[in-house]
Amino acid sequence: MNILGINPGHNGAAALLVDGNLEFYIEEERLSRSKYDGNPLMGILEGLKYGIDVLVIGGTSPQLPQLPWTGEDPYSALIRKHNPNVQVINVGHIHHLGHAASAFYNSGFEDAAAVIVDGSGTRQEIQVNEEGQKNPGFETESIFSCDYEEGIKPVFQALGGNSDTQRVVSDNIEMDSAITLVKAYEAVSEYLGFGFIEAGKTMGLAPYGKDDELIPSLFYGGRGNKNVFVPNYPAGAHIDHTRHPYLTLKEDPKSWHSDSTKVTDAAKNLAWAVQDETQRLVGDLIEKAVKTTGKKNIVIAGGYGLNCVANYYYKKRFPDLNIYVDPISHDGGTAIGIAQLVYYTETKDKTIRPLSTLYLGPKREETYDFGDIETTDVTPADIAKMISEKNIVAMVQGRSEAGPRALGNRSILYDPTDPKGKDTVNKVKGREWFRPFAGSMMQEHFSEWFETYGMEESPSMMYAMDFKLEKHGECPAITHVDGTCRIQTVTKEQNEVYHTLIDEFRKITGVPILFNTSFNLAGEPLVETLDDAMRTIKNSDINYLYLPELGKLVHYPYNDSVVEEVEEAAA
Ligand SMILES: [Fe+2]
Repeated sequence: MNILGINPGHNGAAALLVDGNLEFYIEEERLSRSKYDGNPLMGILEGLKYGIDVLVIGGTSPQLPQLPWTGEDPYSALIRKHNPNVQVINVGHIHHLGHAASAFYNSGFEDAAAVIVDGSGTRQEIQVNEEGQKNPGFETESIFSCDYEEGIKPVFQALGGNSDTQRVVSDNIEMDSAITLVKAYEAVSEYLGFGFIEAGKTMGLAPYGKDDELIPSLFYGGRGNKNVFVPNYPAGAHIDHTRHPYLTLKEDPKSWHSDSTKVTDAAKNLAWAVQDETQRLVGDLIEKAVKTTGKKNIVIAGGYGLNCVANYYYKKRFPDLNIYVDPISHDGGTAIGIAQLVYYTETKDKTIRPLSTLYLGPKREETYDFGDIETTDVTPADIAKMISEKNIVAMVQGRSEAGPRALGNRSILYDPTDPKGKDTVNKVKGREWFRPFAGSMMQEHFSEWFETYGMEESPSMMYAMDFKLEKHGECPAITHVDGTCRIQTVTKEQNEVYHTLIDEFRKITGVPILFNTSFNLAGEPLVETLDDAMRTIKNSDINYLYLPELGKLVHYPYNDSVVEEVEEAAA
């Protein structure tokens, strides 16, 4: 049975399960080349190559547009042209169920409590009295109890609301006319001049800040401070900065995005505050999940699951819990979750299928006519040497990574020991000065380099971890201002070429780690095809593209203006 799950909405995505096994996952932006693209029509076309028996539609609303003539929704209509008997199931009425299913079924746990922390899920009407009065609210945080016998059952729900939402507090519901965690994070991100969905930039800025008594408390009892945040569900929220002289914006915040000398204390310290307060509140929610379900296995999803700083904080705070963070915890991952939900519910199958890889992009065989472009035959040792000589090398191999990070199949690689590395690559990629870079390392050296808090590996790069004290200073290009790095561990089994390449770099430098950032330029989706990769190196200061499957290095010399600029500034 082929079940295609789709998420319409930002992070549009499609995922195909074949007899319960995940065949592929793809975000629409990778195919359409439009960042955060919403309607996964190209993802459906990928699914149609296999045949689709069941279509599961998620998103955050059960309401779908209707096509003229037949009245069908556009997704079902497209598939019906290929399979008149396609079964269609709409689960848009409870968005968080898709997050919980994805986190639980991918975790490999027999049972778990799912903690979902999300911006704005489905709008719900909660009955508040016996007269049937309804109270509107939007899913924000939820706890579910999960196992293979009973399925996924809601235990607790917090909902955010606008001015028409009444306050209701009971054991299993909390709602009022305030925002909660992720919307607060989004409002701060918008205040700082980022897109509301660019919370990762706020997270990157946060360690530059510190506790600041001039910043008002952002939350009271887990609900956003109404003197700070103005709700606007489902779209977002904003900071009422005119009420707080310290936070009043005197100039466009974008002015400091490219100039570190202009950033204000209020900006840095507000980023610090929202990170600090939200991660502690999610920690409290984890405690609530343990208390209400009695379970020690915790799975985490929803947009806040991508907060790799918070994820490491939970590992430190809860050494006795088994915590799994869904690596595709943004809305795209619900495409997998809802397909799994339907599969396990309809078949009663109890097979546990832990997510074993994130190399889940559609399989493709590609050719490219390099024409006059110089290509040379190379080995991983040659590439390692080039990187150790401070060359930026992009690498494309195999299937693309699921989720918002590169894990060695669509990566830009560099030397982590270069003190100028962060500035150089930030400029080449067109990123803001404060954004840190990730690293990939040989799994066998993990505990020598990082404070692991019981973790044996970090294959999905979900944690910003402390370098061990004795390693401080060894990898300045990927060490954030607080001494952390978002690190991926790599084994031969997971990615043989990448592991070999890192090992070759270790032989030259003694450092079993490579600087790894996603292969894209600012504002663009990760490259998917060889065509995308070639277009990107032609449009950037990246001169080298390594294609391990062809054993080739593509050399596309371009003017190195950005790299030279950084070198001159440092001289
Ligand atoms: Fe979500």
